[in-house]
Amino acid sequence: MKIIINGAAREVQVAPETPLLWVIREELKLTGTKFGCGMGLCGACTVHQNGVAIRSCITPVSTVEGMEITTIEGIGSEDNPHPLQQAWQDLNVPQCGYCQSGQLMSASALLAQNPNPTDSDIVNAMSGNICRCGTYPRIKKAIKKAAGNLQASSVQMLQPEMYQPKEPRG
Ligand code: FES
Ligand code: FES
Repeated sequence: MKIIINGAAREVQVAPETPLLWVIREELKLTGTKFGCGMGLCGACTVHQNGVAIRSCITPVSTVEGMEITTIEGIGSEDNPHPLQQAWQDLNVPQCGYCQSGQLMSASALLAQNPNPTDSDIVNAMSGNICRCGTYPRIKKAIKKAAGNLQASSVQMLQPEMYQPKEPRG
């Protein structure tokens, strides 16, 4: 089966009902996307399907064949961070960090569709992402900071040639 991930076509040998999360983590070794509840309830596994935030733990891989899937590894890099990643760093958002790639994927889908979200837009878009460390106030602040930055410079997705799969980080 062929899937397009972070702009590159990849071939995987898996059963059609395999959750997309397992393909991302186990087959493609993109371990920035996390497993939390496995039931679509916590948001740790959030990725983009054609730019829309989805829960990869409950998404059979066969349903995304031919669609653009973007993971946390595809929205920015250390050298070229997404404005949200920069804001996350500037405001020291993460605590344990486990939920944060899912938070960033939901936030980046929000800003792609709504570059100047209100507080309630942010609360609505982020309501499915749970943070057991309670970093919600900093997440909200960082989204607003990045939204300010985004008005001055448009977000650039990483291009496929810039994308390098990383070694598993667990
Ligand atoms: S691991 Fe997918 S929503 Fe919790
Ligand atoms: S930073 Fe620990 S779960 Fe969110």
